Amino acid sequence: MKCRKCTKHAVINMRQHKLALCSFHFLEWIKNQTQKTIERYKMFTPDQKILVAVSGGKDSLALWDVLQQLGYQTGGLYIHLGIQGVGDYSQESQRLTEKFAKEKNLPLHIYNVQQETGSPIEEIAFYNKRGKGKPCAVCGLVKRHTINEIANQFDYDVLVTGHNLDDEVAVLFGNTLNWEVDFLRRQSPVLKAKKGLLPKAKPFCRFYERETAAYALLAGIEYIEEECPFSVGSTSIQQKEILNLLEHQRPGMKLAFYIKFLKNKKSIFQNLDEDGDTNDILYVCPTCGQSTQSEGNCSYCNTIKRTQLKKNK
Ligand code: AMP
Ligand code: FES
Ligand code: ZN
Ligand code: ZN
Repeated sequence: MKCRKCTKHAVINMRQHKLALCSFHFLEWIKNQTQKTIERYKMFTPDQKILVAVSGGKDSLALWDVLQQLGYQTGGLYIHLGIQGVGDYSQESQRLTEKFAKEKNLPLHIYNVQQETGSPIEEIAFYNKRGKGKPCAVCGLVKRHTINEIANQFDYDVLVTGHNLDDEVAVLFGNTLNWEVDFLRRQSPVLKAKKGLLPKAKPFCRFYERETAAYALLAGIEYIEEECPFSVGSTSIQQKEILNLLEHQRPGMKLAFYIKFLKNKKSIFQNLDEDGDTNDILYVCPTCGQSTQSEGNCSYCNTIKRTQLKKNK
């Protein structure tokens, strides 16, 4: 297969975008798409100081790489959670993050949870009896708090994380299954600043995990391949597997699910009466007299008219 932009051999075929690219054009494409996402959701501007939360994994390291290549002012933050795993997960993640920052000559803040609080994450979770034996909920809480704290301390303007489309879609799917209305309302590629909290953005939210992994590989970034040992068997991983099956049958399904949610979010959550009816201005269909959401014929009348027209052709 050939690259769509030149005659070179394509290294990746993205069925969901109907796009095959060579290494050079794929790296370019990732950078251009990231810039478009930053502008589309008004995430930040080149005069702002951006703190990238880096876990040592492919997504956040790739994001840091792309942002600095796009000319943004960035610093990184690695939070050492004190998670052991097979090959000392936290220590190895820190080593790879430090290696990246040194190679690129980028500032990196290291925050060690045990040193700062007296306990590693598992211990904090144990004493708070949260998360049914898994520290993930407490870990999320600590990470969110720490990222804000460091950003405030070092005068950053915006926080960014490496969440990709697969992450966002799994969260959206899980929250929909449980009808977590408040979480759904707040799920967004950007979150505005609130009291004591800086604005947050997810510039990779429209990239499939496969795409960020390919970027890290082709850009020569060494990252931790091991997942957090506590994520094994988690609901979100199970949901990702289901979503992958659907995506396999219908390429582009994940992206459409996410984008359509963002597009329709306002109308889903606004203008609702107590009984759940919408307060949108309704029009009357000139043909049947029933109410309709837009001016002109209602969908029913349009459908029937179209059918009759086509049938009588
Ligand atoms: P996760 O929740 O592990 O899927 O990670 C989502 C995002 O949170 C990553 O892409 C990073 O931006 C950030 N993150 C996760 N773990 C850490 C960490 N230990 N230190 C700093 N940022 C992290
Ligand atoms: Fe926090 Fe796995 S990264 S529990
Ligand atoms: Zn090419
Ligand atoms: Zn607090």
